[in-house]
Amino acid sequence: MPTPSIYVTRRIFPEAIALLRSVAEVRQWESDLPPPYERLLAEAKQSDALFTLLTDRIDAPLLAAAPQLRVVSNMAVGYNNVDVAAATARGIYIGNTPGVLTETTAEFAFALLLAWARRVPEAQRFAREGRWKTWEPMSLLGVDLHGATLGIVGVGRIGEAMARRARAFQMRILYQSRTRKPALERELGIIYAGLDTLLAESDFVSLHVPLNAETRGLIGARQLAKMKPTAALINTARGDVVDQAALIKALQAKSIAGAALDVTDPEPLPAGNPLYQMENVLLTPHIASASRGTRLRMAMMAALNIVDVLEGRAPTHCVNSEATGRRPSRAPA
Ligand code: NAP
Ligand code: GLV
Repeated sequence: MPTPSIYVTRRIFPEAIALLRSVAEVRQWESDLPPPYERLLAEAKQSDALFTLLTDRIDAPLLAAAPQLRVVSNMAVGYNNVDVAAATARGIYIGNTPGVLTETTAEFAFALLLAWARRVPEAQRFAREGRWKTWEPMSLLGVDLHGATLGIVGVGRIGEAMARRARAFQMRILYQSRTRKPALERELGIIYAGLDTLLAESDFVSLHVPLNAETRGLIGARQLAKMKPTAALINTARGDVVDQAALIKALQAKSIAGAALDVTDPEPLPAGNPLYQMENVLLTPHIASASRGTRLRMAMMAALNIVDVLEGRAPTHCVNSEATGRRPSRAPA
C-alpha cells in the first residue's frame, strides 16, 4: 500500500504535524494566509486527507476532483465552509472539533458583552490619549449586566455555556433554539421565548447558532427593528447569520445601541467598511476560540480525526457518519 498523503492548509502546532507524520506523508502550506483555491484544488487531487481551516472553501468541484480523498478535517466546530452533502455522496468524511472550544468561546463572547457594556476599549483609548484629567462622575458611563436581560439565540454547547456565565452575573436570560430545553430551564432559570419576544425584551442579544440554510440572514432588518434602541447585538457565531448591511443601517440610525462582533461578512472586512469606524461597535478578528490551550486541543482533535480515517475508522468527531460505506469504486479505503 502506498503511504497516504495529507495536505495541511496552514501553519499549525508542530505537535499536530508530528501526529500526522506518524501515519502519512505530510505536505503543508507554510503560511498564516490561506492557500489560493487553485492551489488547494491541486493539492486535494493528490491527497488522501485534508487538514483545513474555516477559511478554506471545500466545495463540490474540489471534492469531485480529488479521487483519493477520504477525509477533510476542519480545525473548527463550524463547517459551513464545506459542502457536506457533496462529500457524503462521495463517501468522504468531514471531521470537526466540537466541545474542546466551548468554554473558551463562551468566555470570549462574555468578554465582548462585558467590554461593550462597560466601554472598555473606549476607556483605554481615553486614558492613552491623555484625556484622563480627573475622576469624572458623568464620563464613560456604561450599562450594568446584573438585572439586565440577555437573549441567547441557539442554545447548543456554546449557548449553554454563555447562559451559565450570564446566570453567575445575575442576568435574566431568554433563549430561542430549534428545540426547547426543559432541563436547562429548570437548572439555570432560562426562559424559552420566540425570536421576536427575545429581540424585543433583551438588553443584549448573543448569537450561537451554526451557519446553515436556515440561519443565514436570521437577523435582518425586520429582526433588528424589534430590538430596543438601548440594546446591543453580540455575534460570535458567523457573520452571515446577520444581514450586515441592515446591521450597519440600524447602527447608523441608532435604532440599536451597538454591536460586538467577532465574526463578519466577509472576513476580514474590506478597508473602509463603516464597522471599523463606529464608536458603538466592538470588532475583533474571529478569535473567540483563540486561547493557546484550546487551539492546541483543536489542532490535535482535527489531526486525530484524520488518523482515525487513515487507520480505517470513521473520524471520532464526524459531521457525516452516513458517508460510511458510500465510497464509490475509487481508491481503496
Ligand atoms: P452546537 O452545539 O451545535 O449549538 C448550536 C445550536 O444552535 C444547536 O444546539 C441548535 O439548537 C441551534 N440551532 C441550529 N439551528 C437553529 C435555528 N435555525 N434556530 C435556532 N437555533 C438553532 O454548536 P456550538 O459548538 O455551540 O457552536 C455554535 C457555532 O458557533 C458554530 O457552528 C460556529 O459557527 C460558532 N463558533 C464560532 C467561534 C468563533 O471563534 N467565533 C468559535 C466556536 C464556534 P437545538 O439544540 O435547539 O437544535
Ligand atoms: C470557529 O469559528 C469555529 O467554528 O470553531
